[in-house]
Amino acid sequence: MMSSSKTRVLSGMRSTGKLHLGNYVGALDNWVRMQDEFDCFFFIADWHALTTDYADTSRLGENSVEVLLDWLAAGLDPEKCVMFIQSHVPAHAELHLLLSMITPLGWLERVPTYKEQKENILEKDLGTYGFLGYPVLQAADILIYKADVVPVGEDQVAHVELTREIARRFNSFYAGEKKHVFPEPAAKLTPAPRLPGTDGRKMSKSYGNAILLTDAEPVVRLKLKTMVTDPARIRRTDPGNPDVCPVGDLHKIFSGKETIEKVYEGCRSAGIGCIECKSWAADSLVKILNPMQERRKKYEENPGLAWDILDAGSKRAREIAGATMGDVRSSMKLDYKRNDKS
Ligand code: TRP
Ligand code: SF4
Repeated sequence: MMSSSKTRVLSGMRSTGKLHLGNYVGALDNWVRMQDEFDCFFFIADWHALTTDYADTSRLGENSVEVLLDWLAAGLDPEKCVMFIQSHVPAHAELHLLLSMITPLGWLERVPTYKEQKENILEKDLGTYGFLGYPVLQAADILIYKADVVPVGEDQVAHVELTREIARRFNSFYAGEKKHVFPEPAAKLTPAPRLPGTDGRKMSKSYGNAILLTDAEPVVRLKLKTMVTDPARIRRTDPGNPDVCPVGDLHKIFSGKETIEKVYEGCRSAGIGCIECKSWAADSLVKILNPMQERRKKYEENPGLAWDILDAGSKRAREIAGATMGDVRSSMKLDYKRNDKS
């Protein structure tokens, strides 16, 4: 196949439902650019979502479809990349099981996200086997496609590093004469600006401060209206500093050069008010969101189209994953069966 010479890129997103601007600038925008150049696989990690949201699975399917719709809205194109659902490729689970046999507990307990999340997410019991094994499942996701490059945010780099260690350990046990069964994947850190939400903290759905890719123009404008600004700028006549203002951050990420210049000049001289400044920021966001929402419509009106994409993608993924599992089973001598004489 032509594509086999291209660098293979794989990444996933947990199925958390509708995506927000932070997901866009932190990942999606980058994926959309990569699909033109590389052999890309993007999947919806619904099993990974279960590691924290295991108690109520009622929205699992809905959430997966929402993620796909946002991917398509943002410009991922089924002609250029493979999109699929993790649980529709059961081989991930088999590889996860086999990798779990060779992964030392200490490696997992040392993963920074494990400790952090266990300390910070108190409303759920994360003292489960599945949650500790989260990075092993992620390693299986990556290795089963023999991915070369894994674009991720900063918080995920440790998981890719662990994947490399697991790959190395697997190869050292089972590769035999072959140099390796699994290539070691490289993490590609997505250069993402810190995107503040409406309260100035990092944009996150769980903080309730997010601007969704599906927010209609009036919603975007309303959210901007209540967004926090430079706290030193109390009165209209006080000068402000866009560099310490979350609205200023939005401008730097989404506005054109001219607008940014107007913001700096007007804010520092108190020549503009925050209301005006925010309306310009809203203009910039709407300009990016409008074409996405336009593209999304087609799939919203015809969910069968979205499912066709997922089904075709999952089928393609199963083919590749199946071939890798053949290698894995034979390397591990798990391909034994009754022979002709017995
Ligand atoms: N853990 C990733 C996240 O929370 C999602 C993910 C699951 C992933 N499997 C993956 C990312 C494999 C890259 C490769 O964002
Ligand atoms: Fe922030 Fe704009 Fe107000 Fe300055 S004018 S404080 S950048 S909202």
